[in-house]
Amino acid sequence: MRNSIECREIEKLFKGDGIETYALKDVNLKITEGEFVSIIGPSGSGKSTLLSILGTLDIPSSGEMLYENKPTNKLSNKQMADFRFENIGFIFQQFHLIPTLTALENIMAPLFGRKVTYDKKQRAQELLEMVGLKDKENSLPAQLSGGQQQRVAIARALVHEPNWLLADEPTGNLDTETGEIIFQLLLSLNREKGCGVLFVTHDPELANRANRKIEMRDGLLIADTVVNQYA
Ligand SMILES: Nc1ncnc2c1ncn2[C@@H]1O[C@H](COP(=O)(O)OP(=O)(O)OP(=O)(O)O)[C@@H](O)[C@H]1O
Ligand SMILES: [Mg+2]
Repeated sequence: MRNSIECREIEKLFKGDGIETYALKDVNLKITEGEFVSIIGPSGSGKSTLLSILGTLDIPSSGEMLYENKPTNKLSNKQMADFRFENIGFIFQQFHLIPTLTALENIMAPLFGRKVTYDKKQRAQELLEMVGLKDKENSLPAQLSGGQQQRVAIARALVHEPNWLLADEPTGNLDTETGEIIFQLLLSLNREKGCGVLFVTHDPELANRANRKIEMRDGLLIADTVVNQYA
């Protein structure tokens, strides 16, 4: 059976300076491993909040998150971190690479302090090659272009072999051509490695190239459509 991540009646309320904002309202969503899903909606509609909650980087104010049909709110912080390590790779619009580490070291960073069965450096080198940056092993982020930095960030997200890749506007800071290279990389990871991909975008054309499109507005999930059948 394939793994799934599920949100049940999720709400997220932010409170501050006497202002309350419902970033998410009654969101129900189930994503199965291997899916290729886009999330689109206006600025402030709750896309990043939803992605953070699905990726267990944040917790909902109410409602339930389930993984393999089991509630995650029963997990301790340590169990949650292990869950994330085993399952989730995250990619951010601003790349979030560590500026003082080389490309290779950035890719290896999530493995720090973790016992794994493979050679960490060799795995990081393989990923660097996969994203087409074999010759940039010793480059610092500042010595790389935006597209190259995002490719390093993708390699870093994959280093622990997650079942899901969650990407918050991964092409948002890139020109169209570089964005297409990144998109093709996400697509091939989905098709060839069976990695579930969930990506946020502002671009309707890109959103329609996923297999399934989630549309958000004012914290609500307003549409969940199959846009392309799986090949
Ligand atoms: N840490 C926070 N504290 C207070 N309010 C927040 C916080 N994070 C998000 N919000 C609010 O929650 C709502 C949803 O924000 P979110 O970042 O999820 O939107 P988004 O759809 O990702 O927008 P964008 O397309 O601009 O990235 C917004 O009204 C935002 O102001
Ligand atoms: Mg956002």
